[in-house]
Amino acid sequence: MVVSGVADLPRPDNQAAGIGDGKHGFGLELPPSHSVFDGRPGGEVEGSACRLPYRNEETFVVPAPPLITFGAADIVNNCNLRCPFCVVDYSEVKKTELMTQATFGRLLELLPLLPDAGFWLSCLHEPTIHPGFEELLGMIPAGQGQKFWFTTNLARRMDDAMFQSWVDAGLHHVNVSLDTLDAELFTVLRKHGRLEVLLDNLNRMVRVFRASANAPRIRFISMVFESNFAEMEGIVRRCHEEWMSTEHEIRYMYNVAHVTDEFRQVHLLTRDRWPELSARLKDLAAPHVVICPPDEDYEEQRINPSDDFELTCFQLPAGPPDFTPPLKLRARHNGNIFLVGQEGRFSANVGTLADPAGFVRQAVREWQESSPAKSAR
Ligand SMILES: C[S@@+](CC[C@H](N)C(=O)[O-])C[C@H]1O[C@@H](n2cnc3c(N)ncnc32)[C@H](O)[C@@H]1O
Ligand code: SF4
Repeated sequence: MVVSGVADLPRPDNQAAGIGDGKHGFGLELPPSHSVFDGRPGGEVEGSACRLPYRNEETFVVPAPPLITFGAADIVNNCNLRCPFCVVDYSEVKKTELMTQATFGRLLELLPLLPDAGFWLSCLHEPTIHPGFEELLGMIPAGQGQKFWFTTNLARRMDDAMFQSWVDAGLHHVNVSLDTLDAELFTVLRKHGRLEVLLDNLNRMVRVFRASANAPRIRFISMVFESNFAEMEGIVRRCHEEWMSTEHEIRYMYNVAHVTDEFRQVHLLTRDRWPELSARLKDLAAPHVVICPPDEDYEEQRINPSDDFELTCFQLPAGPPDFTPPLKLRARHNGNIFLVGQEGRFSANVGTLADPAGFVRQAVREWQESSPAKSAR
């Protein structure tokens, strides 16, 4: 048996037809281990030999669960800003490199393996600096837009046609990073950015989105520091009331090693300040989630930058990559794909794969076949 459950969901159609009390419905999903399963499962009542036919068939096709949880792609390798808290260490990035349409096209071949909101157009960097961003969005197949989203600093001046292209692509959502509404502090936290430009972009983006019934949802991410602590309640409220926020993530700074001690001393919000922040935001009507720092050693810890795998190719003990589904993939602007957390163990370039989706399916199949215990996970 692969999956079981209780058949107690309402079936008013059966009841109306005089069959039972109308509570015999069930809904089951195949587990991730069956994401490459291509047989036809059947159903039966536990403890009896009674098969449950579906449309008069004893076995039937059920949708496979997504093989990949997400594909965290970046269409560029750089950013237009240099925020002093950034998870990315840009010290070695001297030149902006862009994903080509050909590479993006190959990545799109992975779409059948991805769920809604599973394809990220930015993970580490700033997607709007890609001069062909609108053209890439235009390549998203009709009806597949809900699989895509990205995060932006809205720091580059953009015209309404750009925001319209986000609507037309049918994106799932757009994350906007907004940490302060104080113009002076903005220049410190979002180095090389200007609050005036962000607000102009944001106001016009919201206007364009409001004019469409199918616009992407807008989420906000605010980093909290000692320096913007007092503003946070007002920012969350304003984003909801004025800028269509459907969710607001209030986030601690991952304490990355390359952030300067000077920045930490002035801005870092220490662990003891978070209960007060949560209490201040608790009763807000605006939908929000507070992501607090870890309990232990938050101030003392120094973690590696998120682009560490690009710089050092991530050292892991020797061994084969673990292809237990569902997979988490990264994709760089040049088409290199990795397994998240196992970057040094597995990488391939989508440009060299005849069939990227078939390649991933096959890798999972071979992994499962190499040990039956793996496919049962
Ligand atoms: C790495 S950025 C890439 C997208 C874009 N450049 C931006 O900032 O919106 C993605 C998100 O991570 C956040 N971020 C950056 N550095 C961080 C850190 N040290 N800890 C937690 N989140 C961070 C940013 O504020 C942004 O919301
Ligand atoms: S805008 Fe985003 S990617 Fe760019 S430096 Fe700031 S946090 Fe990092």
